[in-house]
Amino acid sequence: MRLPLTILALSSFALASPVPSDQLIFSSSSPATPFLSSPINFFASIWSNSIDVLTPRLVQTSHETAPYWDLPLLLRWRGIKFADVTDHAELGVSLLQSSPSTLSNDSSPFPSKLSYHDQVKHVHTNISTAGPRTNIKHLTSFRTRYYKSQTGRDSQVWLRDLLQSIVDAHQPSDIADSSRISVREFTHDWVQSSLIVHIPATNRTAASSNGLVIVSSHQDSVNLLLPIFPAPGADDDGSGTVTQIESLRALMATGWRPEHRDVEWHFYSAEEAGLLGSQAVVSDYVRRGVKVDAMSQFDMTAFVPTEAKDSPPAMGIVTDFVSPALTTFNKQLLHSYLPEVQPIETKCGYACSDHASWTKVGVHSAFTIENEFAKCNLKRIHTTRDVWDHDEYSFEHIARFSKLSSAFVVELSGWAGSK
Ligand SMILES: *[C@@H]1O[C@H](CO)[C@@H](O)[C@H](O)[C@H]1NC(C)=O
Ligand SMILES: *[C@@H]1O[C@H](CO)[C@@H](O)[C@H](O)[C@H]1NC(C)=O
Ligand SMILES: *[C@@H]1O[C@H](CO)[C@@H](O)[C@H](O)[C@H]1NC(C)=O
Repeated sequence: MRLPLTILALSSFALASPVPSDQLIFSSSSPATPFLSSPINFFASIWSNSIDVLTPRLVQTSHETAPYWDLPLLLRWRGIKFADVTDHAELGVSLLQSSPSTLSNDSSPFPSKLSYHDQVKHVHTNISTAGPRTNIKHLTSFRTRYYKSQTGRDSQVWLRDLLQSIVDAHQPSDIADSSRISVREFTHDWVQSSLIVHIPATNRTAASSNGLVIVSSHQDSVNLLLPIFPAPGADDDGSGTVTQIESLRALMATGWRPEHRDVEWHFYSAEEAGLLGSQAVVSDYVRRGVKVDAMSQFDMTAFVPTEAKDSPPAMGIVTDFVSPALTTFNKQLLHSYLPEVQPIETKCGYACSDHASWTKVGVHSAFTIENEFAKCNLKRIHTTRDVWDHDEYSFEHIARFSKLSSAFVVELSGWAGSK
């Protein structure tokens, strides 16, 4: 998620300037303690990263206002949310000039009746907390998943191999190319690629006239003080990432294949830098004329505040910069498949996460988050404290989001051979 600098981080920065002590705790799994082993390299690295973050970029802070040049780091420190549109200033412009109302609720293209109850329930019995536990440990062992860092590249390679192993475990090696599930790196001008898992629907006639279904999260993390500092990103967005890995794994394990829409899992790079990865993907899909029917973003899915432990579980349903029709559909899924969850409508602001890149070009997108915005994990994210081994990090909460993700996928893409 993209957020202003938290008050806590700000005060620790002010008090302990130039370098707050908690920012110097390097993860034990980092190859070396950079400062101690090589002060010169360490400061050289700070310097080059500072040059980088102090280069002006073309930013946009709402759909209505024109983009302007500013310094991303300073915007973040001032708590201003933005999309960095330097490389994609054209995205969505024609749409805004014509009719921005294509996403209205009036004629929802989404089913008003759910049709795969037994199959979805079967997938849900297969969703467990074991995979997310193992995966979050690994994902947070990289010192940072900053999109321009070597460890950000390393974490992406690890994620790619994990996704490939899940696919390989459930796909015969002699399958025809037209039915083959692929895991591909969508490369960028920086080292960390976005990742795309593509699952073809069995009915090619239907799939060629329908658009894609996408479920997504972002794989990068950031320490808001300076990118050089550690950023475990367990909640933002390690949680959404392991949520999506688990929904993919459980669907594969229970033999699901989409019937009438191709489905993709997207793991975006560089969300924290101003939605750079998702904008590049959206721009490519628009250019190639790839039609997308629905996109659902998962960014921060683990946090349950201590004081809410005894209340029914809550989920934040984001209502700004999303499609009302798809959001209504998501609420319907919750009502049917997770009736114990209290959906709470909430706003997150401009460019809050990658769904905004799709909304901008008129694609129906939705965004669900761990709680209403004000009760999210705002004190820990973007700092060294965004770890998984504390009482407010809930794998049960993650499992609810994996269930929502798998229900979304099955109800919109079908289940081959079930009817
Ligand atoms: C999910 O299903 C697979 C295949 O039937 C099975 O091997 C696995 O144990 C199941 N996992 C859970 C958590 O139920
Ligand atoms: C495939 O989809 C097309 C278009 O929706 C439909 O007419 C056809 O009956 C489907 N084929 C099968 C085998 O279900
Ligand atoms: C969309 O429609 C649903 C169901 O009719 C309604 O509950 C919801 O409030 C509507 N949302 C908006 C933004 O109009």
